[in-house]
Amino acid sequence: MEATGLLERTEGLYAKVQHAIPAIEWPLLARDIDAIMALKKSHNAVILAHNYQTPEIYHCVADLVGDSLALAREAMNVEADVIVLAGVHFMAETAKLLNPSKKVLIPDLAAGCSLAESITPADVRNLRKRYPGVPIVTYVNTSAAVKAESDICCTSGNAKAIIESLGVKRVIMIPDEYLAKNIAAETGVEIITWKGHCEVHERFSAAEVAELRDDYPGVVILAHPECPPDVVGASDFSGSTAAIASYIAKERPPRVALLTECSMSDNVAIQYPELEFVRPCNLCPHMKRITLPKIRHALETMTHEVTIDPAVAERARLSVERMLAVKA
Ligand code: 13P
Ligand code: SF4
Repeated sequence: MEATGLLERTEGLYAKVQHAIPAIEWPLLARDIDAIMALKKSHNAVILAHNYQTPEIYHCVADLVGDSLALAREAMNVEADVIVLAGVHFMAETAKLLNPSKKVLIPDLAAGCSLAESITPADVRNLRKRYPGVPIVTYVNTSAAVKAESDICCTSGNAKAIIESLGVKRVIMIPDEYLAKNIAAETGVEIITWKGHCEVHERFSAAEVAELRDDYPGVVILAHPECPPDVVGASDFSGSTAAIASYIAKERPPRVALLTECSMSDNVAIQYPELEFVRPCNLCPHMKRITLPKIRHALETMTHEVTIDPAVAERARLSVERMLAVKA
């Protein structure tokens, strides 16, 4: 009886994701979805989900979805008491920086990022000593402590605009070497890079792009700018996850390959069933730590709460706010 009610309550949601989720898996997912919906109401909570979250999270329980930039902007305007960040730790920290009076929860504390891991606050202080007077632009994929040592943040969605807004000939851009090189190619500004890489995007190669073009004639290839520069150079378009989604919405390429995390294609393909998505994707093990049972547990126990040392938060917030003040 209960199971029938549950399936009836969730049938509209299943209709949305049926091409991505086998029917046999739905009853189990539906139980968690139903519980999460009730918990969101009772705790006055909202779920912010990144574009790399699985379809049952992205399409079924999230209140707001987007790339890192959109999630930061949305977090700032949340009026609910609790924000559950279905994404990785730096995204939850950014939400806390921008809306400090809210309780921000991350369903798995170990949801990190290879870029955030690649640099420490001491590294940033050393760079500043080595290149006095050169502004430090820090990708949001970093800890709050690293942001606190920086002049301004950027995301893949606004990196070019941020660099150009500084009006200087030379900047330090940390920690993603490939993003920095890809943006340098677009701006003509000299960029001093760091040696961090995204463990997901660094695995794509130009040879793979050539193979895709041979195997799938006419395929349009869209690459995230965390991919190596030769991969971006061999692709038809490069942009943040939001820019990739907008490209598809506007151009509707009949056959398309997204050189980015796997769930991105799953989520966009649900919106455009008429397009063929070739899927040479790589999984982000950190994003995949976030699951429906963990979101449910986070809301049931109000864990894991994200906190930031107030002295660090004050300086980190400045870097993020300077970024948000630039029109992109
Ligand atoms: P976007 O800001 O483009 O969504 O990228 C975030 C990210 O972690 C990419 O790997
Ligand atoms: Fe970090 Fe790469 Fe995962 Fe994005 S996809 S969270 S950059 S490891």
